[in-house]
Amino acid sequence: MIFNNLLIEQKGRIQYIILNRESKLNALNNQTINELYHAFEMAFANPSIDGIIMTGAGTKAFAAGADIAEFNGIETDKATEIAKLGHKVFEMIENGTKPVIAAINGFALGGGLELALACHIRIAAETAKMGLPEVSLGLIPGYGGTQRLTKLVGKGKAMEMILTADMITATDALQVGLVNKIVAQEDLLKYAEDLLNKILIRSPMAIGYAIAAINAAEKQTNGFEEEITLFTKCFNTNDTKEGIAAFLGKRKPDFKGN
Ligand code: COA
Repeated sequence: MIFNNLLIEQKGRIQYIILNRESKLNALNNQTINELYHAFEMAFANPSIDGIIMTGAGTKAFAAGADIAEFNGIETDKATEIAKLGHKVFEMIENGTKPVIAAINGFALGGGLELALACHIRIAAETAKMGLPEVSLGLIPGYGGTQRLTKLVGKGKAMEMILTADMITATDALQVGLVNKIVAQEDLLKYAEDLLNKILIRSPMAIGYAIAAINAAEKQTNGFEEEITLFTKCFNTNDTKEGIAAFLGKRKPDFKGN
């Protein structure tokens, strides 16, 4: 697969997926969304990759939104198609069994913030600005932003951000729980890597189950039941046996991911 709008780089067990349309502030056009689908599909299926860092090229933008030029004059059928494709890609990221960290290196607006919201953890450069400004274009967020932002920061703050269309600073984003940490721009990727590497020493099987169980907390289905199911499933796996045995034997676990 040839990627025109993404840079794909592997560093050890980490896959970098980098939006690479810097002249358009990494805006997510249709081709980029399609490429994201394939890049994540490949990373999730690749046994030599255990975690992913999603970021944008340059220091100005993570992604400044869906590509507004592609919205010009479209009919409703096309709008549905655009939204459905975005939903499919972002749901795949959210439900992936490998951890995905968004390293927000600049503007994360509209679809750009919605992409970051679909990732499991968000780290922001101190210069980052975030917002869902769609109402300023006479639109509403269409890639899951009304749902994921509301769940993450609560209804009141989501209402304020979406209805005013205002951007918020990294400091404000940290305060409302939209990002997990703020670091200097030059330290952003190193911090994201260190955090991901900390996760990757744990059992890959357990990390995948934990992501699924946490995601189930937000679904209409009974998340408590899902937690019991997945907790029970652990006991059929070698990693659980190994983790318990290692703890009891006062040694480091040797997880195989099964
Ligand atoms: N879609 C398409 N192109 C975009 C874009 C988007 N979402 N965001 C930025 N661009 C393009 C600009 O059109 C410009 O292209 P050009 O040089 O060919 O004219 C280039 O990226 C640089 O953007 P520019 O607006 O000149 O940068 P700026 O520093 O003055 O402003 C922003 C930065 C982020 C404030 C501004 O680009 C902006 O408001 N973008 C749209 C944000 C938005 O509404 N997103 C939600 C979309 S649904």
